[in-house]
Amino acid sequence: MEIITTKSALQQAVASLKAEKKTIGLVPTMGALHEGHATLIRQAVRENDAAIVSVFVNPTQFNNKEDLAKYPRNIARDAELLGSLGVTYVFAPEPEEMYTAEEMAQPFEFDFGGLDKMMEGKMRPGHFNGVVQVVSRLFYLALPDRAYFGEKDYQQLAIIHFMVERSSMHGTFGNLQIIDCPIVREASGLALSSRNERLSEDEKQTALAISRTLIQSLEWAKTMSVEEVRQRVIDTINAVEGLEVEYYEIVDQTTLLPATEFGHAIGCVTVYCGPVRLIDNMKYQV
Ligand code: PAF
Repeated sequence: MEIITTKSALQQAVASLKAEKKTIGLVPTMGALHEGHATLIRQAVRENDAAIVSVFVNPTQFNNKEDLAKYPRNIARDAELLGSLGVTYVFAPEPEEMYTAEEMAQPFEFDFGGLDKMMEGKMRPGHFNGVVQVVSRLFYLALPDRAYFGEKDYQQLAIIHFMVERSSMHGTFGNLQIIDCPIVREASGLALSSRNERLSEDEKQTALAISRTLIQSLEWAKTMSVEEVRQRVIDTINAVEGLEVEYYEIVDQTTLLPATEFGHAIGCVTVYCGPVRLIDNMKYQV
């Protein structure tokens, strides 16, 4: 495994792989790697001749400076894990390598066809512009055949699909395939997240109410309306001391518009557990 920190070195490495007709799997990450990332990376290693993992805490997707400052970083531990997973290249640039000062300061604007108007997009203005800015740059640099993303960030995944489908109409990303990877949970049900590192053991126990309630809601959906289930999920989580729901929306899995029925719907939740903002989701199959 080789750690690369410049765009030009990555482009050279990619050119060599392409010359040897090797397929490339890309896993974009912001580091602080956990078993959820490891699952994506193992799949990328299995399905491609070479796997590239980017480790970059992208400043342009943080609308809150404190959140950016507190985002967990541990490149030494990440490198150790990546070395054990059979990754070919790790791309770990500094922000100045990725962006010019103008790109860092000036909001990048992209039309998401309305997919950014709700949930995370509404609560974190500019967030998805930053995500698409960095992900599209990584695609241009790494020229992957497949790119792997977790379903925990469901709205992000929907927006990345939209971006790739839209730009592939112009042939930008060739035959790039976006691979959706299911949420990985602890045995307790807690969705794995780099942000869990900021939870105390007590807070981790408290946070279990999030996945527990989402799982219960699958039962409620058999007899209650979408709006009743939405409200009951919010009330149940808010009743737990230490948790506060920011939003719970039950939306269509493709359009992300509010669902009126459970078929093809997904419930997406954001909850503050103390100061830590956690997200999770559950697909309904009623
Ligand atoms: O999901 C993430 O960790 C980030 O949003 C991503 C896709 C690596 C872009 O910075």
